[in-house]
Amino acid sequence: MRGRFITFEGSEGCGKTTQIELLRERLEKEGREILLTREPGGTGAGEKIRDLLQHAPEGEDLTAQAELLLFTASRAQLVRKKIVPAIERGVYVLADRFLDSTTVYQGVARGLDAAAVAAINSFAVGNCLPDLTFLLDLDVNEGRKRVRERSPGEQDRMERETDVFFEKVRRGYLDLAGREPERFVVLDAMKSQDQIAQEIWHSLGE
Ligand code: TMP
Repeated sequence: MRGRFITFEGSEGCGKTTQIELLRERLEKEGREILLTREPGGTGAGEKIRDLLQHAPEGEDLTAQAELLLFTASRAQLVRKKIVPAIERGVYVLADRFLDSTTVYQGVARGLDAAAVAAINSFAVGNCLPDLTFLLDLDVNEGRKRVRERSPGEQDRMERETDVFFEKVRRGYLDLAGREPERFVVLDAMKSQDQIAQEIWHSLGE
């Protein structure tokens, strides 16, 4: 039996990692086998790419084009080595970010050509597309506040972006969700963790 492929999207501080953990516990109690993935990363090569994209000094002056190709290279590896084999074994895959992050961060917020981003995204994932995507929507200032509280003093390369950039991310996600309402479930990330977890569970129809 085929598993399910469920992705979580949203900007920094939106709480997707917490929700993934809560969902994992609940699905495991029901006897489901779960694979958690995070992007960039999730494979040996992908974790090297993550370091380059987020922390290594060599990544500081990456062009937007190189950044796009690195995010999608990490995903191409993850899809074929981990996600597709797991879904075929009946596993439920819960992904902390997937191709919508690239559409929104590199396409909308960095302003790269949308058609080029869509073509590269599609080449990277082949026909491995999410069955369901949860978007945790959050006000930009609230997101920044949560990130500061979580890791005071430290900011990675993306977190140093401007509020204008993150407003574009937020809007980009909401537009995307509006265009694909059958795949997206938009959640208000200001609600309590328990309430959001309930809404996610309800949408899954498990
Ligand atoms: P996270 O660990 O908070 O999810 O951080 C991942 C960062 O990388 C976040 O700033 C979003 C960014 N990102 C992109 O810009 N494009 C992508 O395709 C992915 C997967 C992440």
